Amino acid sequence: MSDIFDFNGAAGSGWSQPEPIIEGANETVPESLRRNNLPKWPRASEPELVRHYTWLSQRNFGIDTGFYPLGSCTMKHNPRINERIVQLPGIDRVHPLQPEHQIQGLLSIFYEMQEMLEICSGMDQVTLQPVAGAQGEFTAIRCIQEYHRSNGDEQRDKVIVPDSAHGTNPASAAMCGYDIIEIPSAEDGRLDLDALRAAVGEDTAAMMITNPSTLGIFEPEIAEAAEVVHAAGGQMYYDGANFNAILGKTDPGRMGFDAVHYNLHKTFSQPNGGGGPGSGPIGVKSHLADYLPSPLVDREEDEGEGTTGDGYRYFWRTPDKSIGKVQQWHGNAGAVVRAWAFYRRYGRELELMSEHAVLNANYLRFRIMNPNPETLAEIPSMPTDGAPAAVVKHEFTLSMQPLKETTGVTGKDVAKRLLDYGYMSPTLYFPMIVPECLMIEPTETESREVLDKFADDFLAILTEDAELVTTAPHNTNVRRVDEVWAARNLILRHPGSE
Ligand SMILES: Cc1ncc(COP(=O)(O)O)c(C=O)c1O
Repeated sequence: MSDIFDFNGAAGSGWSQPEPIIEGANETVPESLRRNNLPKWPRASEPELVRHYTWLSQRNFGIDTGFYPLGSCTMKHNPRINERIVQLPGIDRVHPLQPEHQIQGLLSIFYEMQEMLEICSGMDQVTLQPVAGAQGEFTAIRCIQEYHRSNGDEQRDKVIVPDSAHGTNPASAAMCGYDIIEIPSAEDGRLDLDALRAAVGEDTAAMMITNPSTLGIFEPEIAEAAEVVHAAGGQMYYDGANFNAILGKTDPGRMGFDAVHYNLHKTFSQPNGGGGPGSGPIGVKSHLADYLPSPLVDREEDEGEGTTGDGYRYFWRTPDKSIGKVQQWHGNAGAVVRAWAFYRRYGRELELMSEHAVLNANYLRFRIMNPNPETLAEIPSMPTDGAPAAVVKHEFTLSMQPLKETTGVTGKDVAKRLLDYGYMSPTLYFPMIVPECLMIEPTETESREVLDKFADDFLAILTEDAELVTTAPHNTNVRRVDEVWAARNLILRHPGSE
């Protein structure tokens, strides 16, 4: 028994929650919002609580339990030293409203992080405020919008995105009020320059592009694309969520971009997705810097009392034409400090992280695409087939369409069957331009043995009995759910709660 509502140890012993007050409850709460019955809270003692969470953690799958090839969602190994650092009292025990002179050390970390990200991206100013990649996109597009407005370019109401874009790109631009122009990718999955030339005009506010793209392809004509958009008066936005493929090798500034976001949780460690909140700093060229959200960390020369001894005094600064606040307090400070600890530990060697990310993806792709001859008929096709291997970066896509046509086994079936083998499923049915898509991204810290085992197991699934695969998973805590039923009959409350 580990469901928290099944425990009751706290009722008889140990600490128990105070009884909620119904009669005479706070009169300032409007009548319609007051309770007229007691909430059914769990009443667990401490050992029961520990059991509950341990049980929950065992039902979960994470990077700490096994290989996690979830494309577009880079799962990083999170060095435990990061946790030690983020829990130091000067970091863990500060309040966001504390005066600057009491938090000079923390501010210097933020400043160093801003500076490091500026160098890595070729941008002039970074803000650490946004707490997710998608929020970074929204923030940067808002800065671009204000920039156009201040130039009297109100007619620029369109944002161009390729059809291989991450879904958050058009969504962020739409949230800023822009119309989206989607341009089709070329046959080989790369950016189609002719389609871009046909799409730009006086109404172009920006182009948003992920590089390497969601197909894992580095866009070789990216500089030309930037010229086309700039010639039309638009701005270039770099979705840098896939920075883990290029860190230390090249940068968006060099490619001609004006703004970029990073997913710290995908490039600089820090749990990603359901594992924890992230951080999506953005960097911009100087012409956009005045519009950044508030506050940034700045510094001036000072060796006086209360400084860290590095010759500077650090302070919060609001840019002159700031779009305002996008986040309460100062962004996700804990995530920033973990990412800082990661980068300080590796420094220039972080370049190796990108190399290993690209090597692992290319190796796994090679292993899966070059099986022994008797399984050749089952090889999934890839839109990047024929492209030199080096063009694929940190992730790659496989189409299960041929398999579906010959055996009836779909991409989803293969993904579910992988769970039986103890793997997290690859990203499924994204990007949508690849039929029956599986998108695979191996973490850069995985060994060759792990990749080989995964490739063998993956290929074994392709030759398994179709019935076995289409009814998978068989060994997991939760079996295959009826997603259509679940979507139509949403149960959003725990049956034990009220
Ligand atoms: C290419 C790309 N862009 C944007 C995002 C959005 O980032 P977040 O999930 O932090 O909002 C992701 C997320 O994984 C991504 O892969």
